[in-house]
Amino acid sequence: MDLGLAGRTAIVCASTSGLGEATARALAAEGARVVVSGRRAERAGSIAAELPDAVGVGVDLTDPEGPDTLVARATEAFGPVDVLVLNSGGPPPSTAASIDADAIGKALVPLLYAQQRLVSLVLPGMRERGWGRILGVGSVGVVAPIPGLALSNIGRAALAGYLKTLATEVAPDGVTVNELLPGRIATARTAQVDAHQADREGADVDAVEARNVAGIPAGRYGRAAEFGAVAAFLCSDVASYVTGTAVRCDGGLVASL
Ligand SMILES: NC(=O)c1ccc[n+]([C@@H]2O[C@H](COP(=O)([O-])OP(=O)(O)OC[C@H]3O[C@@H](n4cnc5c(N)ncnc54)[C@H](OP(=O)(O)O)[C@@H]3O)[C@@H](O)[C@H]2O)c1
Repeated sequence: MDLGLAGRTAIVCASTSGLGEATARALAAEGARVVVSGRRAERAGSIAAELPDAVGVGVDLTDPEGPDTLVARATEAFGPVDVLVLNSGGPPPSTAASIDADAIGKALVPLLYAQQRLVSLVLPGMRERGWGRILGVGSVGVVAPIPGLALSNIGRAALAGYLKTLATEVAPDGVTVNELLPGRIATARTAQVDAHQADREGADVDAVEARNVAGIPAGRYGRAAEFGAVAAFLCSDVASYVTGTAVRCDGGLVASL
């Protein structure tokens, strides 16, 4: 299937590793011009250099100027932005009973405030041109909050509420807004969460991983490329009638429909 992404300009936030990198690679494979980004400028540059038409931008999304810098650099390189993939690093593991307003405020910066700012910068152009794709990288924690990840559960619920509201507002303008919710995809973040869980339980990390895998109907963690493929589809031209939804990429992990 031709996804109709050739020549489209895509910003992929937090794409120097894991899910973002896989998404950037999948979009590039479909012919999109891709902006790879993350705090590690050198890593962003080296990934971009492997892709047919891409640039790497070193940017910290928790920096107040970060979102503006990213969009400015993307526009400078490729012109108007057609596809915006919202992604960020995950907040530290925490229980709900132990957090305070400061911790919540800090978690919301990359998970919500930076994302909203990015959207505000690219959305007017998308609406004018009558075509745009906004995809949020969320978590299955949006539909089934994950024990020990209180800050993530809170921030991602906020982002999901924002994106769903936005989807309805901009649907008549040819702009789709969706979320893709990973379950357990094998990345540095998943390794960090497993290590934290093992630490908390005084258990072996391999035992924790084996227990987690046992709860996944597919019987394994996902591969980042499997996530990237679904992300590219949701950002594609052919997915033009898919909006306001949250798609799970979790090997069947969440038990509900
Ligand atoms: N993997 C999963 O199964 C899973 C499940 C649920 C939710 N998630 C969430 O999905 C997101 C991506 O996860 P991942 O598994 O791909 O993790 P990852 O491999 O650790 O990648 C995280 C990415 O975020 C970037 N990043 C971190 N802080 C940043 C900042 N302040 N500004 C800009 N970029 C920043 C990192 O790049 P730099 O170091 O270069 O900044 C890196 O590219 C995370 O929020 C994670 O919590 C993942």
